[in-house]
Amino acid sequence: MKINKALPLLVLQAGSVLAHTREDSNPPVFDPHRALSKRQEAPFPPILEPNEAILLNSFDNATIESWSYYYTHGLHLAGTNKSQSQWTADRWSEFGFTSGLASYYVYLNYPVSHSLTATLANGSTYTPLLEEEVLAEDEVTSYPNRVPIFNGYSPSGNASAEYVYVGRGQKVDFERLRTLGVQLEGKIALSRYGGPFRGLKVKNAQDYGMIGVILFTDTADDGNITEANGYAAYPYGPARNPTYVQRGSVEFVSTYSGDPDTPGYASKLDSPRADRSVVIPRIPSLPISWKTAQPLLQALDGHGVDGKTVNRTNWVGKLNATYSTGPALGVTISFSNVARDEITWIWDSIGIINGTNQDEVVILGNHRDAWIVGGGSDPNSGSAVLIELAKAFGALLATGWKPKRTIILASWDAEEYASVGSTEWVEEYVPWLKGSAIAYLNVDQAVSGPDPGLSATPELHDVVAESLKKVVYPYHGYSNLTLYDVWYGLSDGEFGVLGAGSDYVAFLHNGIASLDTGAGQGPNDPIYHYHSSYDTFHWMKTFGDPYFTTHKAIGQHLAILVYHLANDDIIPFNVENYGIHLTSYLNDLRDLVESENATTALNLSPLEDAIAKFNASAAAITAFIQTAATEVEFKLINSKLRDFSRGFVSQGGLPTREFYKHVAFAPGLDTGYAPVTWPGVTEAVQDGNLTLAGSWVLKSARAVEVAAGILAP
Ligand SMILES: *[C@@H]1O[C@H](CO)[C@@H](O)[C@H](O)[C@H]1NC(C)=O
Ligand SMILES: *[C@@H]1O[C@H](CO)[C@@H](O)[C@H](O)[C@H]1NC(C)=O
Ligand SMILES: *[C@@H]1O[C@H](CO)[C@@H](O)[C@H](O)[C@H]1NC(C)=O
Ligand SMILES: *[C@@H]1O[C@H](CO)[C@@H](O)[C@H](O)[C@H]1NC(C)=O
Ligand SMILES: *[C@@H]1O[C@H](CO)[C@@H](O)[C@H](O)[C@H]1NC(C)=O
Ligand SMILES: *[C@@H]1O[C@H](CO)[C@@H](O)[C@H](O)[C@H]1NC(C)=O
Ligand SMILES: *[C@@H]1O[C@H](CO)[C@@H](O)[C@H](O)[C@H]1NC(C)=O
Ligand SMILES: *[C@@H]1O[C@H](CO)[C@@H](O)[C@H](O)[C@H]1NC(C)=O
Ligand SMILES: *[C@@H]1O[C@H](CO)[C@@H](O)[C@H](O)[C@H]1NC(C)=O
Ligand SMILES: *[C@@H]1O[C@H](CO)[C@@H](O)[C@H](O)[C@H]1NC(C)=O
Ligand SMILES: *[C@@H]1O[C@H](CO)[C@@H](O)[C@H](O)[C@H]1NC(C)=O
Ligand SMILES: *[C@@H]1O[C@H](CO)[C@@H](O)[C@H](O)[C@H]1NC(C)=O
Ligand SMILES: [Zn+2]
Repeated sequence: MKINKALPLLVLQAGSVLAHTREDSNPPVFDPHRALSKRQEAPFPPILEPNEAILLNSFDNATIESWSYYYTHGLHLAGTNKSQSQWTADRWSEFGFTSGLASYYVYLNYPVSHSLTATLANGSTYTPLLEEEVLAEDEVTSYPNRVPIFNGYSPSGNASAEYVYVGRGQKVDFERLRTLGVQLEGKIALSRYGGPFRGLKVKNAQDYGMIGVILFTDTADDGNITEANGYAAYPYGPARNPTYVQRGSVEFVSTYSGDPDTPGYASKLDSPRADRSVVIPRIPSLPISWKTAQPLLQALDGHGVDGKTVNRTNWVGKLNATYSTGPALGVTISFSNVARDEITWIWDSIGIINGTNQDEVVILGNHRDAWIVGGGSDPNSGSAVLIELAKAFGALLATGWKPKRTIILASWDAEEYASVGSTEWVEEYVPWLKGSAIAYLNVDQAVSGPDPGLSATPELHDVVAESLKKVVYPYHGYSNLTLYDVWYGLSDGEFGVLGAGSDYVAFLHNGIASLDTGAGQGPNDPIYHYHSSYDTFHWMKTFGDPYFTTHKAIGQHLAILVYHLANDDIIPFNVENYGIHLTSYLNDLRDLVESENATTALNLSPLEDAIAKFNASAAAITAFIQTAATEVEFKLINSKLRDFSRGFVSQGGLPTREFYKHVAFAPGLDTGYAPVTWPGVTEAVQDGNLTLAGSWVLKSARAVEVAAGILAP
């Protein structure tokens, strides 16, 4: 899944957003001068160590294309394609990874049927076609087993009522509607996609007494690349196909991720099953296209409060309507959603190269399942990259090389429903992972456009940036740029903060250093058809990455990164950078506390003192690293670098959501994708509960002190 568009409240930079999207008020624009002015003394082309050269030279865009072709020409909705999991393991085995499948028995649901009819103001009925159009140009859109539109984990149900437009469906939107006196109870919500994770839109509608949700994508999210601006739509041009529909899960992911039936433990055949209603909606939902939605919006024109008067950001979109709230007397939607519930097998593929030190492990993962037959970007651009990376390590193994640390590749199933395959695997192996994991690197949509994006925990920033400098990237026809130059030219060198929405969550919240990477669309790039039957090989080959050169660059970057994490004498972490970022999050928190006039009531100094202790430990071990020369010293240092971040994990987890344990970052309760920093304190302050905030200052400080204690040499 992934894709995150909300502007987080308290972060340096918008979230786990890798795809820069048109909804950002200031989409990043590449500036070659900024990029090259940063080049400094770095040589071009980059100078490579011999092993780096073996890895990078092994990458071939033609073979990447062939892996992509395989994944994107067969149904692989979660739990439906074991042979694709086995095929993945077989390729990795051929390249020297010992590979096999890890199976879990999880709750999923599958689409059976749905319907929607509206009654408009003049009494006529409107019964739109709900499916995406089949395209002769793109063969997989006509496969007989193509996946209908639906929301994963939406319950079966019917709803028939007047409806209300609720904007992006955040809590603040509902509060605004309530203030305006718009009746919500018993109505159906018509909501725009974008902003909070879709499951939270449904949760909010449910919490405000509504009985069903219809979700649509607004062309306002497409910036200038629209049919209205003269661009042809897919398959003839870069604009969004007007029948495009975004599928996706409606689990309440900010409460917990993974199998809804087994919170906190692995889903085995005989595992006990918990009450899933904590994270699964009671009310049905259905996604539709902008074309289907427009008459529904128009029917509300002149009823309730018009969009301008509502005066909320991202309320009014670009469709031909006033975005009035409604309801309108007698203007109703009647819809049904029928899904088949199953507790069924899913398959993760796992590939291993044993290192010399088996108590030090680097993991690189990507999910394999897709909402649709294709998955050209999400997730199989990442899957193709992982096979090519396995091939590159195979080339290195063939020289007799053996890594110092164990390398694990993972191809997760059922990520789309709620990071299920990765979460269950982590829950099964958590004691071992806590004792051995160095880092988890995630690549989901490796390529949905050309703009590289990176989010990571702070100790990884330097090694990630250094690795980017080794990769030449033919971005928009430039022949003299590295991936670093392009990333820097887009981001000014700022990393995103991890929220939720892809397979890193279970790792991060067990205190394991984590990264999420991939390249997304810039403001003038072809529209990426996220979670649609148009996310295909044909789209990728025609618009997304015709020569698979972005795939190659992202893969080369990950290869260099895995190589150094697995092979340097001392794990290449910059722990002082963690102190810098913790302090910056503290400053954001201080601003929030001031704006809430809570400065005297809430004492943040325990947190500041704890960060100062962390800083002292980080400085001490950094000094020790500079003088360390023996294997015994390396071993001691590496064990501290591996283990210190476990300290950030709070026993019992965050208030009301035990799954999320990291005291410094979590997905926002009402954003889902986008992160919030010092979440225990921040969210309590936002709720006005200063007692709770005070206790979380102490808990967070204690966690930082534990990390500092582990790190101290
Ligand atoms: C599984 O995926 C492969 C490759 O995409 C495809 O050839 C095969 O038909 C799929 N299997 C099923 C049961 O759909
Ligand atoms: C790695 O080493 C362990 C312990 O020596 C052994 O049990 C395991 O089979 C090895 N795995 C691989 C993939 O070689
Ligand atoms: C009712 O309104 C819809 C939407 O504006 C329009 O398409 C339809 O032709 C109208 N029907 C009648 C009978 O006026
Ligand atoms: C979109 O088009 C408008 C009007 O032509 C222009 O001012 C703006 O710069 C364009 N935006 C981008 C991101 O190119
Ligand atoms: C809309 O809200 C903003 C503040 O959120 C306010 O400054 C502005 O005056 C409002 N506009 C209208 C038309 O009410
Ligand atoms: C917008 O809809 C109105 C009727 O509601 C219609 O008169 C007008 O032509 C439409 N505009 C466009 C650009 O389609
Ligand atoms: C729900 O709607 C469908 C389609 O209109 C209909 O077949 C079904 O009987 C309805 N179910 C209930 C419980 O009303
Ligand atoms: C980089 O390439 C661009 C176009 O390919 C060119 O305009 C520019 O002068 C080059 N810059 C350097 C420093 O070589
Ligand atoms: C591989 O990339 C080169 C440019 O770097 C391009 O000329 C070639 O056509 C690409 N091959 C494929 C199969 O896309
Ligand atoms: C904080 O105090 C200022 C000045 O007294 C006041 O204007 C503001 O509304 C207060 N803010 C909150 C969130 O209470
Ligand atoms: C921690 O150290 C960084 C520099 O490494 C500094 O910027 C920051 O202010 C320090 N934080 C505290 C709380 O001392
Ligand atoms: C503040 O949070 C605590 C702990 O969750 C809770 O017991 C208390 O009722 C909350 N206070 C308010 C005013 O909500
Ligand atoms: Zn994905």
